[in-house]
Amino acid sequence: MRTFLFPSVALAAAVLAFPVLPAWAGPDRVPPLTDALTRAECGTCHMAFQPALLPARSWERMMDTLSDHFGDDASLPPDKVAHIRAVLVAGAGRDRRAPDATPQRITEARWFTHEHDFAPSRWQKPGVVTKSNCAACHRGAEQGVYDDD
Ligand code: HEC
Ligand code: HEC
Repeated sequence: MRTFLFPSVALAAAVLAFPVLPAWAGPDRVPPLTDALTRAECGTCHMAFQPALLPARSWERMMDTLSDHFGDDASLPPDKVAHIRAVLVAGAGRDRRAPDATPQRITEARWFTHEHDFAPSRWQKPGVVTKSNCAACHRGAEQGVYDDD
């Protein structure tokens, strides 16, 4: 029986550590994105970003404008849009530094520019290509782990 106790204690601790609405000042870890459809549809052109990286307003606007997604057509059928929208909104974050902003880029969100306020030359690290290539610097990015730079 004891062997079953330990995982549940660990799980309870994990739930306590990650509140539903992370107050952003840059947590070390954001809940991983587990929804299979969102991972598949939003992970083909770039990493499937975790919902907590943007506020709900941002995701709502993004899901309304998928036919012009940063110059790409990322349109999906309405049922998929509804499903993914619900996943993103349910896990959305809250940027304590800019509570009313609706950034479309994670890399332009206030918490991001605050956490990444370092010399421009650091973005020239080989393999980075764009700031949104989180995994180039954060090996655990796919799992929501960002404290290992
Ligand atoms: C057809 C390819 C494609 C698909 C599919 C796609 N995206 Fe994108 N996405 C892009 C491109 C291109 C950019 C801009 C990349 C850049 O300029 O650095 C982008 C950028 C983003 C950004 C901003 C990253 C930053 O710069 O901070 C977010 C957030 C994002 N996408 C979310 C999503 C979500 C959510 C989905 C699923 C509904 C999705 N994407 C599906 C192509 C795609
Ligand atoms: C050029 C490398 C680089 C890229 C690309 C990058 N980061 Fe970072 N990030 C860093 C560094 C370095 C720090 C630590 C800054 C510090 O210690 O002050 C950091 C800090 C963070 C933190 C705060 C972690 C903590 O311990 O408080 C988060 C969250 C984060 N990054 C998320 C992201 C996300 C999401 C992306 C992609 C959209 C991204 N980063 C892209 C280098 C990068």
